[in-house]
Amino acid sequence: MPSAGRLLLSSEQIQKRVRELAAQIDADYADGPIYLISVLKGAFMFVADLSRALKKRSVRIEFMAISSYGNQKTSSGQVKVTHDLDVNIEGHNVLIVEDIIDSGVTLSYLRRILEQRRPKSLEIVTLLDKPERRVAPVAVKYVGFRIPDQFVVGYGLDYAEDYRNLSDICVLSSEPELRLEGVSL
Ligand code: IMP
Ligand code: MG
Repeated sequence: MPSAGRLLLSSEQIQKRVRELAAQIDADYADGPIYLISVLKGAFMFVADLSRALKKRSVRIEFMAISSYGNQKTSSGQVKVTHDLDVNIEGHNVLIVEDIIDSGVTLSYLRRILEQRRPKSLEIVTLLDKPERRVAPVAVKYVGFRIPDQFVVGYGLDYAEDYRNLSDICVLSSEPELRLEGVSL
């Protein structure tokens, strides 16, 4: 199996949790459609799997791109929208789909700007949460896994644009030579 370091969450564990989250979301919303607003690029795999696991309503999938990290492991603290929605979300049920919440800077900013567009409801689902790192508080309704303060890659998550294609989530090894071992990109 290609690995970027120590395995943290296997593909099977991720898929099981995604199905549980989808069942919870299906149960919580009385009627459709639901707008899944996915934050590129990291959430692309999660939104693909989550959307397929939602069975009870119509689902619209929209993408936004936000940059706060560049190619580094630590947040620049500066957030900007690099690709905005091309639909009007006013009066709709909106669920922001994120890969991971770290400092919370990205999501608190995104939540604020989407709230101004007056959706009927606005909630957040994140696959991963690193609560120890939180700087900006943000209300998150659905969390896949709470993880310790370690840098993870795979299942959409990258380090300098590498490793997004892995099916598992791994803790990035600090040694560059170990990091690249066995990875086919
Ligand atoms: P925040 O604004 O600090 O919450 O940053 C959230 C964004 O930083 C995520 O959407 C990811 O793109 C990136 N990020 C934070 N932690 C990690 C990690 O462990 N691995 C990969 N990307 C991460
Ligand atoms: Mg991201």
